[in-house]
Amino acid sequence: MGVLVAVFGVVLVLSVCSFLLKWNEVRYRKKGLPPGTMGWPLFGETTEFLKQGPNFMKSQRARYGNLYKTHILGCPTVICMDPELNRYILMNEGKGLIPGYPQSMLDILGKYNIAAVHGSLHKTMRGAMLALIGPTMIREQLMPKIDEFMRSHLHNLNGEIIDIQDKTKEMALLVSLKLIGGIESGLLSETFKPEFYRLVEGTISLPIDLPGTNYHHGFQARKKITSMLSEIINERRNTSTACGDMLDALLKTDEVARAKLTDEQIVDLILTIIYSGYETVSTTSMMAVKYLHDNPKALEELREEHFMIRKGKSPEDPIDWNDYKSMNFTRAVIYETLRMATIVNGLLRKTSQDMEMKGYVIPEGWRIYVYIRESNYDPFLYPEPLTFNPWRWLQDKDLESHQCFLLFGGGGRLCPGKELGTTEISVFLHYFVTRYRWEEVGNDKLVKFPRVEAPNGIRVRVSDY
Ligand code: HEM
Repeated sequence: MGVLVAVFGVVLVLSVCSFLLKWNEVRYRKKGLPPGTMGWPLFGETTEFLKQGPNFMKSQRARYGNLYKTHILGCPTVICMDPELNRYILMNEGKGLIPGYPQSMLDILGKYNIAAVHGSLHKTMRGAMLALIGPTMIREQLMPKIDEFMRSHLHNLNGEIIDIQDKTKEMALLVSLKLIGGIESGLLSETFKPEFYRLVEGTISLPIDLPGTNYHHGFQARKKITSMLSEIINERRNTSTACGDMLDALLKTDEVARAKLTDEQIVDLILTIIYSGYETVSTTSMMAVKYLHDNPKALEELREEHFMIRKGKSPEDPIDWNDYKSMNFTRAVIYETLRMATIVNGLLRKTSQDMEMKGYVIPEGWRIYVYIRESNYDPFLYPEPLTFNPWRWLQDKDLESHQCFLLFGGGGRLCPGKELGTTEISVFLHYFVTRYRWEEVGNDKLVKFPRVEAPNGIRVRVSDY
């Protein structure tokens, strides 16, 4: 009898599961949709996506081709792994392919966060941002501050065991605070730091706004951060001294003032700068240190480049824009790191109307995951793609302008912080490799999906060079 009940139970569970899966497929069986599977009601294929990561994407592509449908992270989604089509999607926001980042994330980052706006407001916010972080501003105002910051951030490490993940995360946040408002390491930055970490955690957690959840903490952190930033802005308005930082440019120069941003927009713009440059710059720096450690020949060539730059300078002399511009091998190391580690796996877009693509119809409100990871390992574009080979970027100058080069995105949302991020990482590497040698302590684990991180950090023993 007991066996019969158990068998009946199993049959019942299997029948319910099969019914739910079938029902979910039928629900999305609209004419013209790309092929693919939708998984479970509500959860879709999120578990498979998060657990199997790139392998899930590859196995679905093997079954359905470069454009297929699925349901992940709470939304019906089309995954696009076709390089040409990916570029088309990024270039055609005006045709209804707007940013598709989760609303829960945008709620924490603010309604004027650049990923939350489009059309003329996006143009205004982006214009104001480019005036703050573009090459002219770096050359004329920001470079000396970046140099001063990295010099002191990487001071006195001889004999220490440091977690390079922590060190680079701290670097990416603190350098932004210095460039934005001259905020040095101290009480204000120490108060800002934990709030910002909570905010970041909130943007990538399940959107359950209940006391005790990371999402809820993220919201609270946003409140504290916006009030701190508003206070800093008010103080700055009342001073007449020139500080040569982004706040000065934002509040006092005609070029940005013409954009006539409200205070709420200014706060969200500043938060966008800090947030967008945080994980990208820190993870790229961490992974560059890791790859250089594992590839002594590349490290040797990088050191040579930086010692050439130091030639004729005293230890106190800063490096300037021209020095940065001469760092060709460093740039190649950064690009190769971005490619190999795939710091950015993909970009999210959403259809604001029904869209036709490759003969399929993507319904309004569906998300499109512009998946760029695979093209980073394309053996035709990057021979021996799993080898860390920075020289490839020097041998083939066309790689940077190739349509598959989407390390910084493309189209109207091409990363406006590309040059600033590259400058920060280059100056970080300059002081790290000219001052120290380092070796990894232990075999710290690295996770590459859904984002690149070392769950227990990467510990390195540092000694003077
Ligand atoms: C290694 C460093 C960096 C990488 C790999 C990187 C990568 C990217 C990518 C792939 C996008 C496109 C997103 C999309 O189309 O949805 C993007 C956009 C953006 N990035 Fe970066 N980024 C880096 C550094 C920075 C820095 C330092 C800042 C600011 C200080 C910044 C600010 C932004 C902003 C504001 C956008 C949105 C632009 C828009 O929507 O118009 N990024 N970045």
